[in-house]
Amino acid sequence: MSRSAHPAGPRHADVLAEGHYSAPAADLNALDEKVWARTVARDADGALTVGGIAVTRLAEEFGTPAYFLDESDFRARCRAWADAFGPDADVFYAGKAFLSRAVVRWLTQEGLNLDVCSGGELTTALDAGMPAERIAFHGNNKTVAEIERAIGAGVGRIVLDSFQEIARVAHIAQRHGKRQRVQIRVTVGVEAHTHEFIATAHEDQKFGIALADGQAAEAVRRALTLDGLELIGIHSHIGSQIFDMAGFEVSARRVVQLLAEVRDEHGVELPEIDLGGGLGIAYTSEDDPREPHEIAKALSDIVTRECEAAKLRTPRISVEPGRAIVGPTAFTLYEVGTVKPLEGLRTYVSVDGGMSDNIRTALYDAEYSVALVSRTSDAEPMLVRVVGKHCESGDIVVKDAFLPADLAPGDLIAVPATGAYCRSMASNYNHALRPPVVAVRDGEARVIVRRETEEDLLRLDVG
Ligand code: LLP
Repeated sequence: MSRSAHPAGPRHADVLAEGHYSAPAADLNALDEKVWARTVARDADGALTVGGIAVTRLAEEFGTPAYFLDESDFRARCRAWADAFGPDADVFYAGKAFLSRAVVRWLTQEGLNLDVCSGGELTTALDAGMPAERIAFHGNNKTVAEIERAIGAGVGRIVLDSFQEIARVAHIAQRHGKRQRVQIRVTVGVEAHTHEFIATAHEDQKFGIALADGQAAEAVRRALTLDGLELIGIHSHIGSQIFDMAGFEVSARRVVQLLAEVRDEHGVELPEIDLGGGLGIAYTSEDDPREPHEIAKALSDIVTRECEAAKLRTPRISVEPGRAIVGPTAFTLYEVGTVKPLEGLRTYVSVDGGMSDNIRTALYDAEYSVALVSRTSDAEPMLVRVVGKHCESGDIVVKDAFLPADLAPGDLIAVPATGAYCRSMASNYNHALRPPVVAVRDGEARVIVRRETEEDLLRLDVG
């Protein structure tokens, strides 16, 4: 992604090179099941439905913009992950992708565990009844107050991210008279093929302790000597939106090597390894994500093979998918406001949300797809850029897409695969009101996170 500034005006024309966008789909009314939640369909009038309810009705009842989340799809994906990994492994849903109390209850009911990375996520999890022992607490700079609360609540594991944190957590646990179960997060030196800002296992970044130069081995040594800690394993997370299993393979191999070193040096076989999350989903028809059972098989084969070679007992594996569970289950519904054709360039379609409800396009150059959903249309495809209503030209929701040329103000359009990192990264920029999340299931829709109101804004602004 280019970070250099250039003057506005004619130069923009150069960046619109031919071929930087794909050709329009053969049928713009078709819904590619790869990118849409599972119960999405079109009704006899051509309106998109989710859980059996038409978006036209949903827009009337809940307004736009809004995120609609397919609850049965979410639950089915939880079960698919849990079944794929089986009883000898653990699946931790990464709450940062999207967390609410309803989500916590679904996870609890479907047998998943939860990865939290802040006091706020921990509060949400505990308040909604997630048993503390099923919670993993993450973060590169957990505050003392957060560590106190996590230990006090009895979380199942804390993932230690630095030498200072090893000492800090040990000290606090001891003060609580506890022995806290912990993992050490290592950076395995893998360059994940993803955007720089969401790659996390190369060495020049803030997370974890490097395997290189014996640093991780030293961290293990220290953790094993501290009374407040029970070291249960090693953790690695290589990045996000990854399709290629090669990075996980290298990571698993290096983590197992560390387990072998630990056994050789301390006579201890650490019982667990966590390979993190980061599995990619389809944002457009061009993406080809793996199914949970393929991922589970690939990971467990690698770990088993490496352990056999090192003559280690195979550790219990855990994974932390966030996006792969919630991402595909939701779409954002917008109303079209202004349609502005720019001769020879493209048509700008402005919607009633924008970078405040989906920052991913601006932040990571993320690609999304979009469809006209309040009706079908036989009009010709037109090249569009879907933009928001914020005072910023980088306020882009969908960079390049095709919509029918008869698109008009008042039409509803939807951007699929917005379940992960959209509401959870939403902002109040320009005093936008963050949209609600509405769960839809079997013909019923209910708000699980309500729309922000102007009163909410004024309540925070104490004058
Ligand atoms: N485990 C750990 C330790 C993580 O740091 C993350 C994501 C996950 C699991 C879940 O990754 P997932 O399966 O959801 O990819 N805001 C960015 C993603 C940042 C992810 C940070 N950590 C985005 O919108 O793409």
